[in-house]
This record gives sequence, C-alpha cells and structure tokens, in this order.
Amino acid sequence: MKEYIIPYGKQNITQEDIDVVNQTLVSNFLTQGPEIEKFEEAFANYVGSKYAISVSNGTAALHLSALALNVKKGDKVITSPITFAASANCIRYCGGEIVFADIDPKTFLLDIGKVRDLLESSPKGTYQGIIPVDLAGRPVDLEGFRKLADEYGLWIIEDACHAPGGYFEDSQKQKQLCGNSNYADLAIFSFHPVKHIACGEGGMITTNNEVLYKKLLKLRTHGITRDNSLFENSIEFASGGESSTEYPLWYMEMQDLGFNYRLTDFQASLGISQLSRANEGLERRKAIAKKYFEAFYGKSFIKGQSGDIEGHAYHLYIIEVEDRLNLYNYLRTCKVFTQIHYIPCHLMPYYRRLGWKEGDMPFAEEYYKSCLSLPMYPTLTDEEQDYVIECISKYFKKNG
Ligand SMILES: Cc1ncc(COP(=O)(O)O)c(C=O)c1O
Repeated sequence: MKEYIIPYGKQNITQEDIDVVNQTLVSNFLTQGPEIEKFEEAFANYVGSKYAISVSNGTAALHLSALALNVKKGDKVITSPITFAASANCIRYCGGEIVFADIDPKTFLLDIGKVRDLLESSPKGTYQGIIPVDLAGRPVDLEGFRKLADEYGLWIIEDACHAPGGYFEDSQKQKQLCGNSNYADLAIFSFHPVKHIACGEGGMITTNNEVLYKKLLKLRTHGITRDNSLFENSIEFASGGESSTEYPLWYMEMQDLGFNYRLTDFQASLGISQLSRANEGLERRKAIAKKYFEAFYGKSFIKGQSGDIEGHAYHLYIIEVEDRLNLYNYLRTCKVFTQIHYIPCHLMPYYRRLGWKEGDMPFAEEYYKSCLSLPMYPTLTDEEQDYVIECISKYFKKNG
C-alpha cells in the first residue's frame, strides 16, 4: 500500500515562482523595489479595493492598522476568541483593551448578536472598534457589522487572513469580496506558507480610504516621509542653514513613531506569481471542501463541519467530532497531520492574567473541545484526500 505523509496545509512553490524570485534577486533591488508596487496593485485588483499596502507579515498588518486608527491606551476593541492571537494582540501593542465576544456555534464566527449585547450594555463611546475574522475562509457578514458599527461610531478591521477570494452577498445582491473594504475601514491578509498566497512571511492591508492609506505608508517605514509637501521643518533648517528655496534632495522627515514593517522585493515577486494562480488554488480548495462535506454529511460522529458554502475561501476545512484527542492521535499514526484552529484566545495564559477565565465564552470553549482542521491545500491529491476520509471513517467504525 502507498505510504502517505499528509500535513494540514502546505505551500505550493512552482518552477515559475522560483524563476521570478531569482530574477529579482539579481536585479538592483532587494527591498522596496518595483515589485512591491506591482504586487500591491495586483492584490488591490484581486480583492477589489482601491489601495493595498504590503507589509512584512499579517501581524504587522494588524499592528499598523490599529496604529492608523489611533488605538491608544484604554481603548476597547471587540474580537472573536476563536482566532489566531494576533487579531487580539494588535490592540494590546497599542495599549488598548481587548474584549472578546462569543462565536456563533453554527458558523464558528464572531456572533454579531453578542457584539450588539456588549455595545447595548455600555454607554456609547465605551468601545472604539471591532475586528471580525473570516475564520477558515468563511466570510463575515460585514454589511451587518458596518450597520452596527455606525450606530456606535466604531471602526472595523476585517481580519481576512484566511479569505482571499472569498465573498458574501450583501442585501443588494452584490458580491462583496473579502478585503474589498466596502464595509470595513481596513482589511488585512497574511502570506504565511499555509495561506492561499505564500511569500514566506508577508502581509497586506487593503482600504478605500486615502487618508488611512497615506498614514499606513508612512507607518510602515519608521514614520518617515520624503514627500516635501508634507514636511514640517523649514527649508532653512533642512538645508543646514544655507540659503535655498527648496528642500535638499537628501532631506526626509520622521514625523510619527513608525516601524520597519516592509516586505522585500523578492517576496513581492513570489507574491505576484502566487497571486496569478490564486483562483486555480481556490477552485481546488472548493472541490476538496465539497468532497469532505459529501463524505461526512449526516454521519453520526460529525457534530458540525465547515459545510459546502458559497463564497467560502476554504483556508481550512474544520469538522467537529466526538473523541477528538484520540482521533487526532490515531490520524498521526496514519501520517495524517491535522490541526486545531484555535485554542480559545481568551484562555491563553496571557489573557487569563488580564482577567479572562473559563466559562466566559461558552460556545468558543465548547467548539474547542471538538474542532479539527483536516488537510486542505491545492496540491492535496484525490487519492490523498480519499485516504484521509478512509482513515477517519475507519477510526469511527473501530471505535463507534
Ligand atoms: C486569522 C489570522 N490573523 C492574523 C494572522 C497573523 O499573520 P502572520 O502569521 O502573517 O503574522 C494569522 C496567521 O497565522 C491568522 O491566521
């Protein structure tokens, strides 16, 4: 019998990817060259936003977004407990406070009803923003969140790390691509190897807001600008006291406390090449999801699953099962390496120390007891997926 080793996620690097990276490596630019703007433009087109700002990773994208929205000490921001910690941490980096609201047990997404409860139970002005997460690639109803946010004067950062190419239909029957920023102020993406587009490390922020775009460009590179229309110091000072009618060409200003969160030019080349195959990869992910859905639909051991859902970008295919720990270990003996997304963020020791405790988010905690992410990546073959399904079915026959 054929031996398989099947991870839950995997990058797909082709010879074409290698060739374009090599070309950039021998060009005049290693960082912040022409590939950066090309990647940003192509990505903005792909998700349907006006602007895109590339950054060094998804966490940097979240941090800069929070800074651009002026998050400061004491600000309160709501997010889901079922997400990667960075969705919450970005607010802590700025001295703000994270308030978790529970998930909807059917979709595993931040429950808008729970967010509304929080907002209604405090005086207006208590909260500043919401960070909904397109968990697993399932798009959040951003139109609903926008309406709610507008009632309370809040901003929205869509954490779309799992969802490039995903979409939902709004009340006007318009297809709204994840990250198009028609309803969110900012959206963020990650190009970590297991994501739809791999750059090694990498991230992107998208927005339709020019003011935020310009702010983000500056924050990404130490808070420095070279745009002489924005300079604050005088020409005289900039010229070192010598007489001049214009700023010297060397002159630049650090106007805000920014960071070095730049993507490199060769990573951007990889991103462009990967993006050119993104739709192909997405179609394959959808086909894999459909097959999992059909294989497990109605089975007694399945408590819930990611479903076969229009607009879902299927970064992950999550099932909820009884006996999860033993199944996980059994699958490892079959060399099928599943994962858990996620351990509830509010129960990480760091957040426990801030006062969060078991029982605070009952649906998220219940979900954590049974969730399991199955292998999902475009190069997973039909035979490999059949083997994964067979191993799970065998386990439950043996133990059912
Ligand atoms: C939902 C979510 N948000 C944020 C991040 C952070 O992205 P990165 O790993 O590129 O910093 C990730 C990546 O794992 C993620 O899955």
